[in-house]
Amino acid sequence: MGAGNGGYVLHRARTEPTSFAVAIDASPDALARGAWSAKRAHLANAAFLVEGVERLPRELACLADEVTVHFPWGSLLQGLLDGSSSVVGSVAALMKNRAELRVLVSAGVRDGFGAVTPSVIISRCANYLQHGLRLVDARWASSEVIRESRSAWAKRLGVGRTRPAVIARYRRDAT
Ligand SMILES: C[S@@+](CC[C@H](N)C(=O)[O-])C[C@H]1O[C@@H](n2cnc3c(N)ncnc32)[C@H](O)[C@@H]1O
Repeated sequence: MGAGNGGYVLHRARTEPTSFAVAIDASPDALARGAWSAKRAHLANAAFLVEGVERLPRELACLADEVTVHFPWGSLLQGLLDGSSSVVGSVAALMKNRAELRVLVSAGVRDGFGAVTPSVIISRCANYLQHGLRLVDARWASSEVIRESRSAWAKRLGVGRTRPAVIARYRRDAT
């Protein structure tokens, strides 16, 4: 979700041929590049959807074993921090029972959201529980975690070198 150029989805689809990976982003600009790369590589197990998290099609409900959000900004970041229904509820609706949501976020005071730390994530976990998502852990992300996200944005911002990131994991628990 908020896949940008879809680099992470391309990587997962290439290295896990029995998985089906879907890159979703509200903006077609970067996502189109990923879609062309998938087409050129004849990757049949990757799909690209231009849509805001707030408007996902019902056909995607309860299909995901895993949802990842790497370095969200704008309404995606705001909704994830607030635990809003339109963002967190919408993401939760994609997930199968026991599926995992991984959020990698780097935001400081200058981004207009206040500094996002593991403590901030932990203090807001009740908002996620309302959507059936239980916080598993929240910690500072290692440079390996940041590298594995294959995030073009993290490279551009110098995340891991000049600014930190938090990794939060949630489990969908429908009971
Ligand atoms: C900083 S970029 C990160 C892109 C990519 N995940 C990466 O790490 O390189 C944030 C992305 O979130 C997307 N985004 C922001 N609000 C969104 C929303 N409401 N629904 C879906 N995508 C959104 C933007 O279009 C943008 O591509």
